[in-house]
Amino acid sequence: MNPLKHVAIIMDGNGRWGIKYKKSRNQGHKAGLKTVEKIIKATIENKINYLTLFAFSTENWKRPKNEIRFLFNLLDNFLDKKIKEFNRNNIKLKIIGNINTLNTTLKKKLNKSEQITKKNSKLQINLALNYGSKFELIDSFKKLIKKNKKINITNIENYLYTAKIPDPDILIRTGNTKRLSNFMLWQLAYTEIYFEKKLWPDFNEKDFVKIINKFKKTKRNFGNI
Ligand code: FPP
Repeated sequence: MNPLKHVAIIMDGNGRWGIKYKKSRNQGHKAGLKTVEKIIKATIENKINYLTLFAFSTENWKRPKNEIRFLFNLLDNFLDKKIKEFNRNNIKLKIIGNINTLNTTLKKKLNKSEQITKKNSKLQINLALNYGSKFELIDSFKKLIKKNKKINITNIENYLYTAKIPDPDILIRTGNTKRLSNFMLWQLAYTEIYFEKKLWPDFNEKDFVKIINKFKKTKRNFGNI
């Protein structure tokens, strides 16, 4: 059976869920947040150490202002509501992505949330915010050049947002779309990818466990035979 340390998820389909159920795209995001809570619980129950969630990409700024505002408010409230609970449950929160350009109040709250939970060790949640894999890679290369370090695998990885985090074993993308959308392009080199037809708000613990069980039975070769 394959060991399973890290699950990464592209939580796609919130907007379509909102429209499908005659609500709004934003109501879809709100429903998506409930799925986030369910999957965090399932991740702990299945003794997985890392969960990476793609919450906002560097390309998502192209969306209507009202949707962007709604998503960041959702995040703000989520942090207010959840950080104490994360701490009680030994969960560490790490932000991956460029948060420098976010508004100062939110940036402070994100930094504080990371600070408060940094010693926790049962589960690490990596929240990808204003995340873009190409930017992450360029940033790593630039830092290496500036420090006069060799361009090699170890050095590149040391300067990614995910330094010291094992690569995802599983990537799940919901929403019936088969693409990577500039997400963890380096880290996913040998990841098992599962495309799920369900929209993210309809995805549940059972679906999650089904994927985990499938993964455990998969033969992983890593280039070997
Ligand atoms: C993709 O669905 C989803 C997002 C861009 C946002 C993901 C956000 C959440 C699940 C809720 C907030 C999470 C946290 C942790 C605060 P889409 O809108 O692209 O869906 P579509 O393809 O149907 O348009």
